[in-house]
Amino acid sequence: MPGEGIGPEVSAATQRVLDATGVNIEWETLGARAENTDKATIGAEVLNASAIESVRRNRVALKGPMATAIAGGARSVNVALRKSLELYANLRPVRNLPGVKSHFDGVDVVIVRENTEDLYSGLEHEVVPGVVESLKIITEKASTRIAKFAFEYARKMGRKKVHAIHKANIMKMSDGLFLRSVRAVAEQYKEIEYKELIVDNACMQIVINPDQFDVLLLPNLYGDIVSDLAAGLVGGLGVVPSGNIGDECAMFEAVHGTAPDIAGQGLANPTALLMSSILMLHHLGEFHAAERVQKALIKVYKDGKHVTKDVGGNAGTLEFTDAVIAALPKA
Ligand code: NAI
Repeated sequence: MPGEGIGPEVSAATQRVLDATGVNIEWETLGARAENTDKATIGAEVLNASAIESVRRNRVALKGPMATAIAGGARSVNVALRKSLELYANLRPVRNLPGVKSHFDGVDVVIVRENTEDLYSGLEHEVVPGVVESLKIITEKASTRIAKFAFEYARKMGRKKVHAIHKANIMKMSDGLFLRSVRAVAEQYKEIEYKELIVDNACMQIVINPDQFDVLLLPNLYGDIVSDLAAGLVGGLGVVPSGNIGDECAMFEAVHGTAPDIAGQGLANPTALLMSSILMLHHLGEFHAAERVQKALIKVYKDGKHVTKDVGGNAGTLEFTDAVIAALPKA
C-alpha cells in the first residue's frame, strides 16, 4: 500500500531495494483508502475493502503514509487499518544510524505499544454544549495480550529488561488494570528483569539516560507519545522503523507522514520505510536478506555521500536508493 504524498516515492524505492536482494516477494499494490472518503464525514467507512481482504489473505503488508484530517473529517485510515486487522502490537526499535545528528550515541531501545484501545477507541461525545467526554478503554484481555507480545519479543531477541510505563497513581482503575495484567505475565518470564515507571518520570529518565532502558511496554496513548520522544533521541521520525503486528497478519510502515511539502519532487528519504521493510524481512524469516539491507543502509550512512537533504546530504530519492542497492553485500 504505497500511501499518499511521498508514500509512492519511498515505497517504490523500498521495493527496488528488496527486489535487489533477490528475496522472492510477489507484490500486490493497493490503495488503503476507500474512494471519495478524503472529505467524508465522521463515521463513514474509510477503508478500501479489497486492500483489507488482500492483507488478510497475504498476511503481511508494507504501507506508506496516509494523510489524516485534524479535527473533523474522515477518521484516520491508519487507525482504522490497525483496528480492523487487529494489529494489536506496535513495535518500534530505536537505534542510532551513523552520521545522523542526534543528542545520544549507542541508543538501543524497543518500544512496544498497545495499538487497539485506550483513548484511541474513538468513543467521544458531547455531554452538554461546551463539555465533551472521551473514553479511555483498558481491558485485561488486550493488556495481557500486549504484555505477552513484549515478553515473547524480549525472549526471542535476547533482551534483558522490560519496563511497564503507566500512570496508575492517578488512573487507578484503568492503568491499574493494565499494570496488574502485565505483572501476571511478567511472572512467567523470570529470566527477564521487570520494572515499572510512571510515564512522566519515564519521559525524563529517557532523555537523561536512555541507556538504562531495553524494552518499554506502554498502553496506546503513552506509547504514541513516548515512541516519538524516543525517535527524537536518534534523529527523528525519518530514521526509525515501525511494525504493527497481530496474530493473523502484520503491517510494516514508516512513522513519518505524507510530507506534502516535498511530495513528488524526488527528495523524500526512504530510510524509515526501508528500515520497516527490514523488520518485515525478519517477520518473514528472511534474516539473511534483512542483514544485507541493514548493512547496506549503514554503509551508505557511514559514507555520507549519498544521503538525502533531511539528514544533511544532497542526494535525491533515486540516488540514495541506487547507493543502497550498490552497497548490498553479496548474497
Ligand atoms: P510529516 O511527517 O509528513 O512531515 C513533517 C516534516 O518532515 C516535513 O517537513 C516533511 O517534509 C519532513 N519529512 C517527513 N518524512 C520525510 C521523509 N521520508 N523524507 C524527507 N523529509 C520528510 O508530518 P505532518 O506534516 O505533520 O503530516 C502530514 C500528513 O501526514 C498529515 O495528513 C498527517 O495526518 C499524515 N501522517 C500520516 C502518518 C502515517 O500514515 N503513519 C503518520 C504521521 C502523519
